Amino acid sequence: MSNPIIAALDVPTANEALTLAKAIAPAVGAFKIGKELFVAEGPDIVRRVRDTGAAVFLDLKFHDIPNTVAKAVTSAAHQDVQMLTVHASGGTAMLRAAQEAAGGNGPLVLGVTVLTSMDQQDLNELGIQKTPAEQVRHLAQLATAAGLRGLVCSPQEIAPLRGVLPAEVQLVTPGIRPAGIASGDQKRVMTPADAITAGADWLVIGRPIYAAENPREAAEAIRESLG
Ligand code: C5P
Repeated sequence: MSNPIIAALDVPTANEALTLAKAIAPAVGAFKIGKELFVAEGPDIVRRVRDTGAAVFLDLKFHDIPNTVAKAVTSAAHQDVQMLTVHASGGTAMLRAAQEAAGGNGPLVLGVTVLTSMDQQDLNELGIQKTPAEQVRHLAQLATAAGLRGLVCSPQEIAPLRGVLPAEVQLVTPGIRPAGIASGDQKRVMTPADAITAGADWLVIGRPIYAAENPREAAEAIRESLG
């Protein structure tokens, strides 16, 4: 497979992001730009990261009425991003509108199911009686039935989702830690190789790369660990 590593540019300024991106671009498959960097620096940071030649995953997790989400996806497509996220809990009409706006050649629209920060009690408070695992599966099936071709999921969700989703659905997985690296606030982690073996298509990796003493070497070591 081509390089499945998506390096999260979880830094607050364009300068830091571009220094990091230029250092590691040859060792990764794509960069993730999230809310912190995008809200601080705007679409210009997308253009400048794209200029390194790497693909961009714009992780803004859209969740709004269908018309608004469709327009946001269209704007992202104009910025030439390759992947973006929407909340699957926005419902079928919103998900369809997002996918239609992306079209066949636009960005891969990824559905976010249940945030990994949420537990059973959080779901119950929202009036949801399913377990988190059941709700993840429910929303994953809702999203793919609405036409989405990709989902973000935790390492533990890869195998169960692979069992119920069409094989062509791409799974993008954060919570990745190379053996021996601190897990930080990630509670359920998996090594890069194990996540790929379980069926992940893309690995979102933040601190193990950007907080490493030598981010380029860290990214290369992860790549090599994938065989
Ligand atoms: O530093 P670390 O490798 O934990 O970063 C993981 C990245 O993936 C961060 O940008 C984080 O926001 C994102 N993410 C996550 N868990 C989720 C969804 C997204 O860690 N469930």
